[in-house]
Amino acid sequence: MGQPLEWGRRYLMVRPDHFRIDYVINPYMSTQDQPDPELALKQWDALQQAIVDAGGEVEVLAQRPDSPDMVYAMNLGLATAEGRAMLSHMRFEPRRKESLTAADWFVGHGFDLDRTGSDDVGPHFESGDAFVFGDSLVVGYGPRSEAEALKHLATQWDIRVRGLRIAHEGMYHLDLPFCPVDSTTAMIYPPAFDAASQTELAGIVPNPIVLTDEEAFAFSGNSLVVNETIIMPACSPRLHDIFTGMGLRVVLVDLSEFHKGGGSARCMTNPLDFPLTAITAAGGELHLPV
Ligand code: ARG
Repeated sequence: MGQPLEWGRRYLMVRPDHFRIDYVINPYMSTQDQPDPELALKQWDALQQAIVDAGGEVEVLAQRPDSPDMVYAMNLGLATAEGRAMLSHMRFEPRRKESLTAADWFVGHGFDLDRTGSDDVGPHFESGDAFVFGDSLVVGYGPRSEAEALKHLATQWDIRVRGLRIAHEGMYHLDLPFCPVDSTTAMIYPPAFDAASQTELAGIVPNPIVLTDEEAFAFSGNSLVVNETIIMPACSPRLHDIFTGMGLRVVLVDLSEFHKGGGSARCMTNPLDFPLTAITAAGGELHLPV
């Protein structure tokens, strides 16, 4: 077991006032299966309350009426404890207006803003693909973020970046098959990655909790740790034993309405306090799987 995570106490969330399925950009979405707005708001409130009860802080941003996926705030931008933010440059056009509002929010809250591109110019980067873990920023690429964006992150911020190539259409962001639990422990779902990246991942995570297919597709990997609490949309008895054995309190929050858009607890919460201290590398370092 490792040390508690240094981050995960401050989040940005977007209230689901205009949450719908208007288009299909992942295998979970269907315009025939719309979320119930009242139930979605109730579930969102329960998630926010669970974070506050665990001792975390939540900032709330209003949803743009023209951006139904904005509730998945994890993708608004990668924000650091040092006050830097890398805005997302969304892969799919219908999500790009979210970045206009996110940019204003980050700047208005004192973040020094950077971006990998905009309006389809420059590499795509979606922050649901990025986590500080161990000695590096671990970034998933392929379905959404592009390798060029990882290079930009490394050189702009003088940090060590380790890329993992995602090769599974149901696991299109890193926050679905990878979830840091403490400084050396993470939930992982290896079939999400290509062979070289699975090997790389084994080197990145000293204490892996390998998810079964059933756990991964119930969005268990899309959980968040806030102090001594792990907030999860679903938890098998096996995972429950593992986490309580680590001294964590498991809190379950039903997020069924948000699963219809292909996201869960982690996707709905953007950490604002990733520390860059342990991953600093002068000039930047990029490690891609070979
Ligand atoms: N419908 C959204 C999309 O496909 C879901 C985003 C889920 N967010 C996440 N961080 N995995 O972009």
